[in-house]
This record gives sequence, structure tokens and C-alpha cells, in this order.
Amino acid sequence: MDKLPPCVIDVGTGYTKLGFAGNKEPQFIIPSAIAIKETAKIGEQTTRRLGKGVEDLDFFIGDEAFDATGYAVKYPVRHGLVEDWDLMERFLEQCIFKYLRAEPEDHYFLLTEPPLNTPENREYTAEIMFESFNVPGLYIAVQAVLALAASWTSRSHEDRTLTGIVIDSGDGVTHVIPVAEGYVIGSCIKHIPIAGRNITYFIQSLLREREIGIPPEQSLETAKAIKEKYCYICPDIAKEFAKYDSDPAKWMKKFDGVNSVTKQNFSVDIGYERFLGPEIFFHPEFSNPDFNIPLSQIVDDVIQNCPIDVRRPLYNNIVLSGGSTMFKDFGRRLQRDIKKTVDARLKQSEDLGGGRLKPKPIDVQVVSHHMQRYAVWFGGSMWGSTPEFYPMCHTKEAYEEYGPSICRHNPVFGTMT
Ligand SMILES: Nc1ncnc2c1ncn2[C@@H]1O[C@H](COP(=O)(O)OP(=O)(O)OP(=O)(O)O)[C@@H](O)[C@H]1O
Ligand SMILES: [Mg+2]
Repeated sequence: MDKLPPCVIDVGTGYTKLGFAGNKEPQFIIPSAIAIKETAKIGEQTTRRLGKGVEDLDFFIGDEAFDATGYAVKYPVRHGLVEDWDLMERFLEQCIFKYLRAEPEDHYFLLTEPPLNTPENREYTAEIMFESFNVPGLYIAVQAVLALAASWTSRSHEDRTLTGIVIDSGDGVTHVIPVAEGYVIGSCIKHIPIAGRNITYFIQSLLREREIGIPPEQSLETAKAIKEKYCYICPDIAKEFAKYDSDPAKWMKKFDGVNSVTKQNFSVDIGYERFLGPEIFFHPEFSNPDFNIPLSQIVDDVIQNCPIDVRRPLYNNIVLSGGSTMFKDFGRRLQRDIKKTVDARLKQSEDLGGGRLKPKPIDVQVVSHHMQRYAVWFGGSMWGSTPEFYPMCHTKEAYEEYGPSICRHNPVFGTMT
């Protein structure tokens, strides 16, 4: 039987990426937001469930959620994990019917899960997909593994491996996830409280100190737009300040916006924010007094915690994923700083040995590629379009025969070419 392509849905804390397997880009990227009627007893999941009926269709997701008046905007996912399954079900309902315009009975589905997802969460997901949507097959893929597979686009055949370390930086958190042969080394994962939202807030605070033209209620969206359009990572902030001071016309930018109430134009001068914003990955203390470990140090710590035989391959394949790794030269700076940290450590152990033992140098490679923004989704799209995908899925027949517990574990996908 000729199957329709699987639907690939990656629900993130901030944005959901959705489309059909085999495509290069997701068909839709929408905020992971849902607007429900205020009267629906927010926060009371059981009451809401009882009230299922006509009003059940009365909700909006994505950008439309923000335009709906008289509705409360909710986010079913927090820190990558589903918090409200009832809202998640409705959210998926519109993803499938309204956005993808797909009949769920006709497609296999590939959904994604964050690191350290629980088996119970997988069961809930399976219940929704098989019982509410009646899908014929389901695969729940680990986001980091998909991100590793996505990086193959920029690598030669012999370098295509499922061993590597994924730096996934989205809106809410940045995860550093070691993966060995397709298996996440869960005990070694670390996360840092610096991601897209923190950079936006930081830029907002820098602008607030000196820019008076921005309408206060638009200051967050303005900071976000500036971040996405003009920010980059520099090699050395002292030198960067000097560059701006000696030739401001060359480096300063202007951002033009429209006041949404008065419809008048406003413009903002953008200066040091351009490089100071994303610099907080490497100097977190600029924005968060309680946290001062640079991302490069965290990556080195994570790898050093891993079993000794995978450390070299991990240094060799540091893969970027997520919207907040999109800053120009992010990969280059990260590679340089990790290298510095590693070399300093090797030098120290050489000195401790009185210079007699010369440690073998370590090859540090950060892999950047053009699908980074949607790496997880893209990895899913590639994987879902291979014939090997179908036999790995949980099927409706198996679900009906054995129950949701069969979905507590997922087979790890192996070769993909
Ligand atoms: N070109 C860009 N440059 C810098 N940041 C960007 C760019 N495009 C998007 N972003 C930022 O990326 C973030 C969203 O990334 P992503 O879609 O990977 O997150 P998510 O999957 O929703 O969240 P999470 O992975 O934390 O659950 C936002 O903070 C957004 O501002
Ligand atoms: Mg994500």
C-alpha cells in the first residue's frame, strides 16, 4: 500500500514546528500557545474535561491565540515538558486538522520528546494519538537524536554518526546532551538557564536604559526583533566596543517600528546590544548574578563526566540545534572557547606530570549547518521519509492488543542514509 507521508510535529516550549516527512522545512512554525474561553475553569483539568461539548471547538492556537479577546492564553508545554495534557490534546487537534489539514487515520505520526521525558508522558501521548485521533502508527523521537541526524546534511558519509553532543538552545533553556550510538547519556545532561528569552530580556533592559522612543508595551517584541535581525557573536568584547567607538556609522544599526496604538513610526538606534545580547552564553553573569559558568565550560564538564571511551568522539561532534544557536559565529566562538578550556586542562595535567607525559591533543569540532533553526523537525522529517521508519513505529493494532504501556519505550533508530 502506498502510504501518505508521516506527519512530523515538534512541540517546543515557545514554538511548534509541523509538517510532512520528506520536506526540507516545516510547513508551519507557530507559537505553542492556546487560547481558551476564560469561563472554562482554567487550572482545573478535571472540570474542563467534564465540560467537553460544543464549546470544545471554541479555542485558538498559534498566533491566532494572541488575537482572541475574552480568552486566556495558555502554554501546554513548559521547559520542554507537557504540563497540561487536556490542552495538549486540543492543541494537537488544531495542528492536525486546521494547519496540516490531514486525516490522522491516514498518516503515521512522528512526535518529539525532550531529554529525560518520563515513560508516563509517552503513555499519555500514545493515548491521545491512538484513542482520540485514531492514528495508525506513532513514533516518539528524542529531540537530541533527531538533531544529531539533522547535522548529517553538512557532513561526509563517513562522519555520519549518532554519537555526539547536542547543544539545543530554544526559547526557555539550553540543554547540553551527550548521545552515544543513538542513546542519550541521561545522567550527564546539563542545562543552563540562558536561552532565547533571556537574551531578549537582556536586550530589552539594555534598550530601556537609553532608548526612550519605544512604546513600553512593545518593548519586548522590539527587543526580540532586534535580537533575531541584528545580533551576532563577537570574538572579543573589548575589541568590539573599540570598533563601535572608532567607527559608529559602520556598526550601529537602526530599527524601524510602528506604534501599534498611534500607528506612528518610531526608530531605535542599536549599538553594543548587537554583540552584548548573545554574549551572555559566554558571560552569563552579565544578565544573571546567580549563574556564571560559560556555555563552553559546561560542554567540557559534560564531556568529562561521560565514559572515557566516548569523550573523544563527543569533542569531535558538537552539534547545534534550536533557534538560539542561529547567531552569526556562534559555532566558531563555541569551538574556540571549548578548545581553550580543553587545552588549559591538558596543559595542567602535563605540568602535574612534570612535563614527562604529553597528552594527545583533542580535536574539538562544532558542527554548524543551515537547518539548525529547525534541526529537530528536520531530523524527524528525514527519518520519517525512510522505509526504516515504519517498522520502528508503535502501531494501532499493537496498542489495542497490549495497551499504552508498549509506548513507554521507543526503539532507537539505527542507520539512515
Ligand atoms: N535568527 C535568529 N537569531 C537568534 N535567535 C533566533 C532566531 N530565530 C529564532 N530565534 C529565537 O529562537 C527561540 C526559539 O527557538 P526554538 O523554536 O528552537 O525553541 P523551542 O523549541 O520552542 O523551545 P525549547 O527547545 O526551549 O522547548 C526564540 O527565542 C527566538 O527568538
Ligand atoms: Mg525545541
